[in-house]
Amino acid sequence: MIEAMFSIENLIEIVKTGGRIKTGIDVYNKKGTLLLGKNEVVDRVRSLEIIQENGIRSVPVAPDGGLWDGNGNQIRMGSDGVIELIPPRPLKKSGLSVLVPVHESSRDIERRLQEIEMIKKETVQRYARATQCLKNALQQIRQTRGQFDVQAVESCVSGLVKFFVDADHPFQYMSREIFSHDDYLYQHSTNVCAIATAVLIRFNENFSHTIDRFLSENRADPGGAGRPEKRKSGAFNYYYPEDLTEISLGFFLYDIGKAMVPEKLLNKNSRLTEEEFQTIKRHSFEYGAKILEDNKINNRVLNNIVRYHHAPLFENEESCYPLDKACSDIPLYVRICKLADIYDAMTSKRSYKDALNQVSVITQLFRKYVKKDAVLQFVLHAFVKSVGRHPPGSIVYLENGQMAYVLDSIGPLVLPFTDNKGNTLSAKPDPIDMGSPGTQQLLKIDNGRSIKTPKEVYKFLPAYIKKVAMPT
Ligand SMILES: [Fe+2]
Ligand SMILES: [Fe+2]
Repeated sequence: MIEAMFSIENLIEIVKTGGRIKTGIDVYNKKGTLLLGKNEVVDRVRSLEIIQENGIRSVPVAPDGGLWDGNGNQIRMGSDGVIELIPPRPLKKSGLSVLVPVHESSRDIERRLQEIEMIKKETVQRYARATQCLKNALQQIRQTRGQFDVQAVESCVSGLVKFFVDADHPFQYMSREIFSHDDYLYQHSTNVCAIATAVLIRFNENFSHTIDRFLSENRADPGGAGRPEKRKSGAFNYYYPEDLTEISLGFFLYDIGKAMVPEKLLNKNSRLTEEEFQTIKRHSFEYGAKILEDNKINNRVLNNIVRYHHAPLFENEESCYPLDKACSDIPLYVRICKLADIYDAMTSKRSYKDALNQVSVITQLFRKYVKKDAVLQFVLHAFVKSVGRHPPGSIVYLENGQMAYVLDSIGPLVLPFTDNKGNTLSAKPDPIDMGSPGTQQLLKIDNGRSIKTPKEVYKFLPAYIKKVAMPT
């Protein structure tokens, strides 16, 4: 029997109005991870949005019906989305009151564990290279009072951006364990570049989808929105690939002016005097701007980032500088850089402070900025989607005290490996989709506890995870 396909938009409408649907097939993402199992009852819009975000436009529903309205009445829907009521039948509750294990074969799980570890390894190598490259540049500036090998930095960043795009935001695979504390400035700048680039790419994708949706709903050209002249296969972009590389170079060099600030001052752990603070401030609008000029970098994007990454994002924001530009004139990429800088500083461990939990930092950023400016809302949403997730390869705590290894940030899909007292499970469990409605009613990720790296909880790991997640 051929099952009719239903557009995800129509299915979302049903679920939004309190209805439920049951999918007729297993739905996988492009990495082969199961997003929704066959015959799974869906009553959360988010589950369908995740499928949509993976580029899937339509799915069949279960052949025995599979569509219910908000009153539990079975419905039939034509391909045009018109809904017709079928005489009522009691709603089966199966699938809603139990955890929803995702049945993947043991081989699939091992393959996924290995894939995560391989990307993590490559990310670590690329980070080490980028950090070294920045260290060299800053040392050259200190020695020559201004000159550095611009081309070496450019080629390093263009490789990094290509990797970010090809590996689908590899920052999410990064574990904080790779950051040593000796070279904080270089590592912090590399992090800011990685975080801000991931947010920028995500913002760009969201912008593209919004315009595409607008076009398909209105079947009209949006006129000034986007840049229609560069339209590619129906997608509009806010930034184009060549813009991205340039902006990422800016993210990488945003604090380059710190090369001219005495290291003693940069590493000072105690409170700065007013005079010292004034010297530090100069790293952006004065020293940074001069280094660009001395190296003949007459690029507006780089100049804006270097000069304005501490500028206010809303009227009267405190401790910001310089104040020679109206907040509304600060380009979007500079705002992203500033948020990435704050986020990374707050979530990094320093000699004088602990790292703050990533989820609570995102919450604080939201509280501070979300209502201040319409565009910032979109940036913050892109932020949550790119860094505020549970990274594959990381360890989370569930609310019942179990520890679980994250297989995929979509869901997220997790593999519990201890019982609720922290004893390592001897049997290999099925992964659990934490995003599925059935699971959410019973068990959630404990966001009050920080995400760990496999290294931090190594002694609790079962042998099959230890085998791939070697401590480095
Ligand atoms: Fe700075
Ligand atoms: Fe910073």
